[in-house]
Amino acid sequence: MADLWGGRFTKATDQEVFDFNESLSFDKRLYRCDIEGSLAHAKMLGKQGIISAEEAESIVSGLKSILADIENGTLTFGPQYEDIHSFVEANLIDRIGDAGKKLHTGRSRNDQVALDMKLYTRTELDKVNELLNVLQKTLLDLIKANKETYMPGFTHLQKAQPVTLAHYLSAYLEMFLRDSERLCDIRKRLNRCPLGSGALAGTTYPLDRDFVAKELLFDEATTNSMDSVSDRDYLIEFLSALSVIMMHLSRFSEEMILFNSNEYRFVEMDDAFSTGSSIMPQKKNPDIAELVRGKTGRVYGDLMALLTIMKGIPLAYNKDMQEDKEAAFDAMDTVKSCLHLFTGMLSTVTFRKDVMEKSAMNGFTNATDAADYLVVKGVPFRDAHGIIGRIVLTCIEKNCSIEDLSLAELKEICPVFEEDVYDAISLKTCVNKRNTKGGPGSEAFEEAVQFYEKRILLDK
Ligand code: ARG
Repeated sequence: MADLWGGRFTKATDQEVFDFNESLSFDKRLYRCDIEGSLAHAKMLGKQGIISAEEAESIVSGLKSILADIENGTLTFGPQYEDIHSFVEANLIDRIGDAGKKLHTGRSRNDQVALDMKLYTRTELDKVNELLNVLQKTLLDLIKANKETYMPGFTHLQKAQPVTLAHYLSAYLEMFLRDSERLCDIRKRLNRCPLGSGALAGTTYPLDRDFVAKELLFDEATTNSMDSVSDRDYLIEFLSALSVIMMHLSRFSEEMILFNSNEYRFVEMDDAFSTGSSIMPQKKNPDIAELVRGKTGRVYGDLMALLTIMKGIPLAYNKDMQEDKEAAFDAMDTVKSCLHLFTGMLSTVTFRKDVMEKSAMNGFTNATDAADYLVVKGVPFRDAHGIIGRIVLTCIEKNCSIEDLSLAELKEICPVFEEDVYDAISLKTCVNKRNTKGGPGSEAFEEAVQFYEKRILLDK
């Protein structure tokens, strides 16, 4: 055990208290951020003449050697340290002696941990955005290849109107583009540097906070020291954006599971992304999609944990805030692996175009268009709706589709029908006539694709 507060205490910390209190076992992953922050702090202390130039140089090279040794595996995280901050500081003192004791001048672990978590979160946010970008590109490729793949669109999980697979996939692309936008918004608010806020009330040393902010690629330094050490809003915002990403992935997963079922057979998962059953030889299960759907609950849980941890914390730093880490790290790790695996699954899935198209042709997905046909011929929409309703009933009795009825049969129900009805209610016409902005019609859709191409390139 290496306490940082020896002076005031007459007894060593109880071992169980130490174990309960420590965070090194999980905050060790902050080592790079912690060292980067300390490098900037040390340079600033030297530049400001708070420590000598030689001391600053010696601290910088000591920190760099610690970083190198952690990365090459020669320096491991011993259990005697409380957290990553004390681990790095103690190792620095071991390596360079007294100069190392000056690193913590004008700094507290409170602003240090606030900085480390922000640096870590910023990198993770960028990684999530990159993974989203790969998913978006995968979707765009599928979209471009399936502009003429027809499938039924559903409402209430009942066949409603025909769409194209490209149009359907674009709905998910829209969601993932919004997710990227959300991350970029969050990044702007996150990108203010808390270092220099001290324990809670700043410091009497002439720190150059703007220098540190710039060194660490922040847009600016924060403006209130009490808020700076106890702000975890950016984490809550990030976890809520991650929850929304998971919600989108989960909806998509749910549909892939459904479409992969024996009943739908719209898609077939690749063998490499499926699993078998230990007892039922015929099984090929969509475990990846199911796990992504399941892990959504876990990420929501992490967000709820963080919100609940923060709700009763008085200003400024309190140890409760150490509890932010495991929840936040879990959410970040989970979302990254879900995005990666889901993208792999999606890029290897086979879409059974024949089954989708056949399904779109059954189930009266052209009923609205049949009514619209009558409207064009002068029948008021409400009457047309009733006429087509009767036609659907006849078809159900005869177990056929609208286009299977002869012109004579159609005319018997409504004399307005002519030979051109068959073309008007064909699958292709039904889809391609829908050219309102955002619709699946070929002209409208072409515009959407151009928009996606620009957006995805921009987000790179
Ligand atoms: N391990 C602590 C955390 O994660 C670091 C800050 C400790 N500060 C303190 N005053 N005890 O929050």
